[in-house]
Amino acid sequence: MRHDEQVRLIKQLCAHLDGDTNVDAGGLRLNPTSTYTDPAQADREWNEWFRGMPQIVGLSGELSEPGSFLTNNDYGTPVLATRDDNGEFKAFVNSCRHRGAIVETDERGTKRRFTCPFHAWSYDSGGALVGLPKPDHFGDVDRECLGLRALPAEERHGLLFVHPDPDGVIDLDWLLGEWFNDEFSTWRFDELELLTSDAYDTACNWKLAMDTFGETYHFTSLHSDTLALSFHGNVQCYDEESHLHRMILCKRAIDEMRKLPEEEWDITVAGLPVYWIFPNVILMPFEIGLFLVRAVPLPGDPARHVSRVDFYLRPSAVEARAHLIEATDLQEMAVNIAHSFGGVIRDEDYVMGASQQQSANAGALDNVVFGRNEPALHHYHNTYRAMLGDEPLPLLQAVSIND
Ligand code: FES
Ligand SMILES: [Fe+2]
Repeated sequence: MRHDEQVRLIKQLCAHLDGDTNVDAGGLRLNPTSTYTDPAQADREWNEWFRGMPQIVGLSGELSEPGSFLTNNDYGTPVLATRDDNGEFKAFVNSCRHRGAIVETDERGTKRRFTCPFHAWSYDSGGALVGLPKPDHFGDVDRECLGLRALPAEERHGLLFVHPDPDGVIDLDWLLGEWFNDEFSTWRFDELELLTSDAYDTACNWKLAMDTFGETYHFTSLHSDTLALSFHGNVQCYDEESHLHRMILCKRAIDEMRKLPEEEWDITVAGLPVYWIFPNVILMPFEIGLFLVRAVPLPGDPARHVSRVDFYLRPSAVEARAHLIEATDLQEMAVNIAHSFGGVIRDEDYVMGASQQQSANAGALDNVVFGRNEPALHHYHNTYRAMLGDEPLPLLQAVSIND
């Protein structure tokens, strides 16, 4: 993030702290709870936004050398993503062209050849069919035509995007907009290395998981013994543009940092930037790395999802702290940070998500209320409603019993 933007945001946080104010959406909105339970809507979401849009499958650092690969089964299509011999990012349907067995079953690694476990047809990192046993017995096949089926793949700002539909189109100019394309170019996500990777299978709709990241109103209650120790609750910055939005949460470290000259201000010390990428991705860059959260629906079950929570470390941040702390200690510290942050999501936020889902499943409430201090929730729900062709949730100046 450019430094002038960092200063603008930090000043905003300070003004909120000093004035005991917060962001203001200008009113309240009622959100129908059916959005978390309706099977027809869940089908549309799955087909239009997960099967029908590019998805982030990881970061560039996970494919650090030719032959390195990762697999992904989150979006219906089995995906094999590789770094090919020319250093290019490629993605394929991970299905053998012989009789369709899954070719690569490991989650990640580095291989020269991907060999199908069934009859040992083998493919290179560019997807070409490079070998099959007993070709004279098998019969005449055109190897040129029987490479792994390519999927649209694009690497930008250190993020790896794959479209689960071979005929799909990746339009990152639209998906990230000018704003995120500009700002992500400053974060150097391509330098990050994967440190920990967790998956939380949770009994709540994937949008309830996204909602928990949409405000800090809950920090002083739900996270009173955890995040509230290092964050000011009820204070944040919020900006939106088209389908994009970004929050800045406020760290307690701002209290000391604001005493320094502005040139030394750092948004990752004063706050935690939270970027939302439609439909299901949250990116949170911080001092020594990045949290990536992806809330993945389970098709056919609106009341359940799996959240993938990955933590990436920035090697240059480790080096910069080498005079303060041994690299191995910092690594251990980073793993602890990752697990305690993940634990907060799993044991606090997602416990609330599951309890909200229980109420929604019961049909106990027609609507829930988004406050003036929860603008990300207003924007997120109205963004996807527009995509579904639904009326926006109206802005209300007050909520009464008749609503
Ligand atoms: S299905 Fe893969 S080699 Fe036969
Ligand atoms: Fe939370």
